[in-house]
Amino acid sequence: MNDYQIIFQKRATDYHFAMQKFPEARKHEFNNLFSGIHFENNIHLLDVPSGGGYLRNYIPKNTKVTLGDFSEGFAIDEIQLVTPEKLPFESNTFDAVFSLSGMHHLDDVPQFVRECLRVTKTGGSFTFADVKKGTNVDTFLNEFVNTYNSLGHKGDFFNETSFETFADIQSSISNCQYKEYPFLFTTISEMTTFFKLFFGLDKASDSIIHKGIEDILGIKTTSKGIEVNWGLLCFQLKKE
Ligand SMILES: C[S@@+](CC[C@H](N)C(=O)[O-])C[C@H]1O[C@@H](n2cnc3c(N)ncnc32)[C@H](O)[C@@H]1O
Repeated sequence: MNDYQIIFQKRATDYHFAMQKFPEARKHEFNNLFSGIHFENNIHLLDVPSGGGYLRNYIPKNTKVTLGDFSEGFAIDEIQLVTPEKLPFESNTFDAVFSLSGMHHLDDVPQFVRECLRVTKTGGSFTFADVKKGTNVDTFLNEFVNTYNSLGHKGDFFNETSFETFADIQSSISNCQYKEYPFLFTTISEMTTFFKLFFGLDKASDSIIHKGIEDILGIKTTSKGIEVNWGLLCFQLKKE
């Protein structure tokens, strides 16, 4: 593991607070992750890295889910501390494995993908979504957040050819698509508060945060409130 283990340990409290204070902000992102999944009885899911286990709000209440994170900052109560190089689960355990925005700080992404596929049952799926290289979200994180978060931000992001040289992984990819889904807020003030906490923007004033979001990501005001443009590259892998 790398410096991000320490960085997330420091960022976890504010990140978690943002997610609890504004539970609807990322609802499209989570709902999108689960589109195409059939929540049949007895299904067992894994979410890794799960942060504070936010996906629970988006799946049927009786669904069995195991939560794991790489950072001690998040690994409390039911959330297990796990390492991406060797997940502490038997092979063929889960019907579906999910990973949302959690892979761009890993030292060895292919190893983590192989681990996720190993613990997925034959016939099951591994779905992950992360930042696409060259998008406004890339600029926002690696430039704006990097400038205004005193711990910095340097993510290694993804594109459609990221796994081209890893034949075993590439052959498991059944779908790879860039999906756009806005973050939702009621007011501009809620938006800046969420961004400040969620991205650890301790060096930026509210007006700098507002301007950064507006200039780099783009904001739309609708009858439902404030929408901030966001989007991720979503991969679906099938375990054959
Ligand atoms: C942006 S959060 C995403 C969490 C959750 N999936 C979500 O969507 O809210 C990134 C997560 O990855 C974990 N993580 C990623 N890379 C890490 C690393 N190198 N060291 C420690 N933790 C890491 C963090 O603990 C954090 O929970």
